[in-house]
Amino acid sequence: MASATTAATDRPGPARTPAAGVQAGLPPGPRAPAVLQTLAWALAPTWVMDGCRQRLGEAFTLTFSPSGMKLVLISDPEAVKTVFTAPPEVAPSGAGNSPVAPVMGPSSVIVLTGPEHMRQRKLLLPPFHGERMREYEEVIVQATQRDMADWPLGRPMRLQERTRAITLEVILRAVFGVEAERMGALKEAIGGLLKPMNPLAIVLIALRRPTLDRPTGAIGRALDHLDEVIYEELSRRRAQEDLAERRDILSLLMQARDEDGEPMTDGELRDELVTLLLAGHETTATSVAWAVERLVRHPQKLRRLQEEIESGGEEYMTAVVNETLRVRPVVPIVARMLKEELQVGSYMLPAGTRVVPCIYLTNRNPRVYEEPEEFRPERFLEDGPDTFSWIPFGGGIRRCIGASFAQLEMRLMLRTMLSELEPSVPDGRYRNGEWVRRRAITLVPAAGARVVWSRRAGEA
Ligand code: HEM
Repeated sequence: MASATTAATDRPGPARTPAAGVQAGLPPGPRAPAVLQTLAWALAPTWVMDGCRQRLGEAFTLTFSPSGMKLVLISDPEAVKTVFTAPPEVAPSGAGNSPVAPVMGPSSVIVLTGPEHMRQRKLLLPPFHGERMREYEEVIVQATQRDMADWPLGRPMRLQERTRAITLEVILRAVFGVEAERMGALKEAIGGLLKPMNPLAIVLIALRRPTLDRPTGAIGRALDHLDEVIYEELSRRRAQEDLAERRDILSLLMQARDEDGEPMTDGELRDELVTLLLAGHETTATSVAWAVERLVRHPQKLRRLQEEIESGGEEYMTAVVNETLRVRPVVPIVARMLKEELQVGSYMLPAGTRVVPCIYLTNRNPRVYEEPEEFRPERFLEDGPDTFSWIPFGGGIRRCIGASFAQLEMRLMLRTMLSELEPSVPDGRYRNGEWVRRRAITLVPAAGARVVWSRRAGEA
């Protein structure tokens, strides 16, 4: 048996008889045929997850058609801990099978596993830590203010579309530098890639056999153009003398050296840049949209936050961000592919199992959270979130590299919006809240977080 602590030394061998109380094999799943499970998962993922948890408990197996692929979803924090802390050679990430993997490229930190993953991760982490974060604050506030200048007042708007534009601007400026001369070309090239990468295209890619082959068609052409612009930017920067003084993420990555003193190759730099641009904006944009969607439907909590903003505090804002990421996580699941058998909770899962810490269900585990469906930031005022029962950013050595960046961005975007404008709920069918809809691999507000803005009393 491989447990989280012994697995590194416990090489694969014939399956052994499990200990008393431990069941061999996969947990039970719904009785519906695989084709129905697949359809329901595609169209109503939260209904599937909630229903299965109620009927089957904290571990269950979903089966997908036509591939027959099985996912074992878990939401017991102890079991989640076992998976997140298992050595990477026992439970590597399954993200290499993600439909966006071929766009990010074979050297992307999201796609790589084992020592190669750790090398890229170590090279990428410094720009996302500690004091470095401070340098992005102004970029975030200014991008939000610039976009807000065009927002309509007194009539509904879909906030998610605007937050997406803001976070794209922020990640581009953070990655390439505020004053990047070729920002226009870079923006146009990434915009050209995002257009064909719509939810339908991603679902179609997901239905194909997992592959890292470069995409063809509209996505392939847009990627060729983006690569051209990125490689031009790399060679332009190499020729410049101020590279060592520049503070943007790309310049830091170009100067980074691994343990053997080696820099990243241009191919590696390209893959990490595309990864950061794609992973680093839509998720944060949707989370900010969800925060406002929840706050406008809880006027007292909105008021408390506004009062704190006026007095210059941060405590309630941090709790609002934590609670939004808990109750409306944008990424519902993360996958790990077992290379050896591993005891997870009361199941001895065989090698080859795709075990999936379910972010959505773990964050709503009723054994951990009182009235888990309620939006209640107060629950995080006394104690901060726990590592294995609050997992919007995944966990272990694959935990989101941009987690601190994303939370900083959420706080600053919310502060900038709410100190100038007053949001309210538009009339119509979503008065009591927008339901959670799937958009490709994320969970988004059904109507794009519709909100009506007015100027706050006292604001010019
Ligand atoms: C609210 C916003 C965000 C959410 C909810 C989010 C969520 C996630 C999740 C669930 C994972 C997978 C973790 C795992 O497998 O355990 C992940 C990985 C990752 N995220 Fe984020 N993310 C966000 C923002 C960002 C930002 C702003 C960046 C970069 C600027 C970023 C870069 C990455 C990268 C590079 C990885 C791969 C890490 C690895 O495999 O080692 N993310 N993110």
